[in-house]
Amino acid sequence: MNATLRPEILKSVQIYQDFLKNHGIAMPGTHAVLGSGIGSSFVDDWIPKNWEAKGELNFRDLPAISSATAPGHAGIYRFFRERTSGQVLCLQVGRLHGYEGLTPEDATLSVMVPRYAGTSNFVLTNAAGGLKLEWEVGSIMMIRDHVNFTGQNPLVGPMKTGVGGAPIGPRFPDLSKAWDREYTEIVRRELTTAGLDTHDGTYLGVLGPSFETPAEVRLFASWGMGTVGMSTVWEAIALAHSGARLSGFSLISNLGSGLNPGAVLDHFVILETSRIAARKVIQALFAIGAGGK
Ligand code: HPA
Repeated sequence: MNATLRPEILKSVQIYQDFLKNHGIAMPGTHAVLGSGIGSSFVDDWIPKNWEAKGELNFRDLPAISSATAPGHAGIYRFFRERTSGQVLCLQVGRLHGYEGLTPEDATLSVMVPRYAGTSNFVLTNAAGGLKLEWEVGSIMMIRDHVNFTGQNPLVGPMKTGVGGAPIGPRFPDLSKAWDREYTEIVRRELTTAGLDTHDGTYLGVLGPSFETPAEVRLFASWGMGTVGMSTVWEAIALAHSGARLSGFSLISNLGSGLNPGAVLDHFVILETSRIAARKVIQALFAIGAGGK
């Protein structure tokens, strides 16, 4: 017997859909999550001229979604409409993390409520520690695959039926194509056009909130991992399970612990370092939003 989604999740989906209707905007073709440093840097001057802001919805207005507590994570959805095509882009400024004390399922709800509401294309971004010495801070790693090193999974528990009453996805989802190759190339093209260097690699997700030890970083690097961070993997699993089209990338905000002996890992330094690249990332996300369907 499948379980249904909790009432507060269904209510949140309804509020999200009503918000769009009341603001006269279509279901977003693209939903992009702005990781730390990217979201916190975003200012309205960066909105391209051919886009108009169409309102914002706060996590706290949705009963299923905890307010974001991490510094640099506002916890709002901002909606934008392309003036000629009418395409709608949702930029999610801030996200939820396991280290805030949330269950894996609850931490995914900031992307799953929009998914249940009807959005299909998701771009997950994060700031992360680089594990390859040759990749410069400020460059981008396209996430070609991930390793969920948190020891937890958002799909644990009874199978759920979605908003329409059908199962959200299979019990044992195949994640071999979770990160869509074609979509990833579209995203890369726009990042390159915006002037960013891109690499390809695997993102390793840890629970946090402590940064890794140098021994852990040496281990992850020896496994061939490209970046390490405290987000993204649960969202990717839940979205892939639900059949969403998924792409994502890490903005390398620092080298992994111990790889740069002169550096101290500090969240606020990471936010600051991300700022210059963040403008280019935002420019690329609007271009991707104009093409999303
Ligand atoms: N480790 C984990 N998470 C991070 C890092 C890091 O080095 N940089 C930004 N987020």
